[in-house]
Amino acid sequence: MSKIKACIFDLDGVIVDTAKYHYLAWKRLAKELGFEFSPEHNERLKGVSRMTSLDILLEVGGLSFTLAEKEKMATKKNEWYLEYIRRMTPEEILPGVEDFLSALKSQGVKIALGSASKNALLILEQVGLQFTFDAVIDGNKALKAKPDPQVFLLGAQELQVNPAECVVFEDAAAGVQAAKNAGMYCIGIGSPSVLSLADKVIPGFLNVTTELISL
Ligand code: G6P
Ligand code: MG
Repeated sequence: MSKIKACIFDLDGVIVDTAKYHYLAWKRLAKELGFEFSPEHNERLKGVSRMTSLDILLEVGGLSFTLAEKEKMATKKNEWYLEYIRRMTPEEILPGVEDFLSALKSQGVKIALGSASKNALLILEQVGLQFTFDAVIDGNKALKAKPDPQVFLLGAQELQVNPAECVVFEDAAAGVQAAKNAGMYCIGIGSPSVLSLADKVIPGFLNVTTELISL
């Protein structure tokens, strides 16, 4: 029998592809500030908090601002981002995710969401997954940004399981690092070159069975 009792899923890039919406909104802000922001630069924003993302963006543009100015910029970016989010539908759940979540549930494996996003609940509602997870830890509950393990440790705590009994699914390097810092087994979603610290990397959930977590 597997020692794994719970799976903790990152949201952006694992359950849904909101990275493209984050990118469009950040790119718009960069344009307004007078510089280009490439998809390669965007890779560095995956998994990190809104304010840290802004700091990285401003570093790329070689600009610096006061905290009050930065807060205004982050709010503006979030308003643009929300315009995309409010149009999301259940069709945007990534392929294979719903089947995999159901299979885990039917085998008694608990599932949690572990996301840095303060918009996680809204996104879950938009795609109809608001009642799916046994615990939801988002950027409002976990105040320390990945790679700090807080978000995943809180997930394990709410599910009442030990970190060593959890598998984390993550698409971002900072998130993989957070899972490893939490002492959890981590499965990367995406490219092995970006997620080199993950214990295993898969391209996505299509045709994935619970065999994957029988460690
Ligand atoms: C996720 C995304 C990041 C994003 C962060 C905060 O971790 O991967 O790109 O910056 O959430 O999202 P928020 O919706 O709170 O701005
Ligand atoms: Mg992610």
